[in-house]
Amino acid sequence: MGWIVLTLVLHTAGQAVLAHAPVQVLGTEGEPVFLKANVPPGFHIRDTFWSFLTPVEEVVAISFRGTPEILYQSRFYGRSRLHPNFTLEISPVALGDSGTFSALLVNTTGEMEKQIFHLAVYDVVSTPTIRVFSEESNPNGPAGSCELFLACAASRGTNVTYRWARTDGKALARDKHSALENGQVLWAKLDLSEDMPASYSCTVANAVSTKSVTIHVQGQCKRQSGAKEPDYDYKSTLLIVVPLASFLLSAAAILVMHTKHRSGKQMSYTVSENESFPA
Ligand SMILES: *[C@@H]1O[C@H](CO)[C@@H](O)[C@H](O)[C@H]1NC(C)=O
Ligand SMILES: *[C@@H]1O[C@H](CO)[C@@H](O)[C@H](O)[C@H]1NC(C)=O
Ligand SMILES: *[C@@H]1O[C@H](CO)[C@@H](O)[C@H](O)[C@H]1NC(C)=O
Repeated sequence: MGWIVLTLVLHTAGQAVLAHAPVQVLGTEGEPVFLKANVPPGFHIRDTFWSFLTPVEEVVAISFRGTPEILYQSRFYGRSRLHPNFTLEISPVALGDSGTFSALLVNTTGEMEKQIFHLAVYDVVSTPTIRVFSEESNPNGPAGSCELFLACAASRGTNVTYRWARTDGKALARDKHSALENGQVLWAKLDLSEDMPASYSCTVANAVSTKSVTIHVQGQCKRQSGAKEPDYDYKSTLLIVVPLASFLLSAAAILVMHTKHRSGKQMSYTVSENESFPA
């Protein structure tokens, strides 16, 4: 019997329904999320129909003449609850639950109210790690400076943003810093007498969480003259070495052309893809 009414209600829902602006709801993966139906004053609810609209409409829960029922066909079966105040609880919520919900409220005189909810579920970000790559000192460059690439990475987190800061609160001078790879990598050129000691923080954030980590870079700068490269992992290698290699490649090409021009001799130089350049 309920199904006939439900079909009728859903069928007519497009017509005489009071619509509201969609409500944005944030969810954290693994935690409960509450979709709160907003019951207008004086609106005496008889039936409620909660649906998930992504990608196609499926009914999640109904409350028919005061009797709540969770529908087993839905992806939320076993982790959803319809509260007596018509709030739909999903616990725990998963990343794949992001999408659009609708709540159709029907009052005792048959009038309807439709409310739309956009749920966005995020994973909490993990504490990031920073890896440091020192540039080889440039013999022709100004003495007493140190160039570093700091690569920050969080292994977990949905839609993360990266932000760098000096921990002494000073602004990052534009001529000495630049953010690369969507802010994940910070290039810093430090004056050994003016800018030291220096430490930086990397803050990783998304809509539901924020984590920070700090690094002191003095050691890396001291090691620069004749020092060994710090260890790095494959992903960071791609991040740093690929742009660096293409830079060195063009530098090598210019050098080759330049030498060729000066000596007037024919030269050929081939570079294999994984060849490393002695600095
Ligand atoms: C309805 O009840 C639930 C569970 O007690 C609560 O979390 C929610 O805030 C309530 N909704 C409203 C609109 O008050
Ligand atoms: C039903 O809803 C309509 C429209 O919101 C409202 O005017 C009416 O008072 C409501 N009646 C009851 C009994 O809730
Ligand atoms: C994350 O960002 C992508 C692209 O900007 C977007 O399509 C997606 O909806 C976002 N995810 C969440 C949970 O907001």
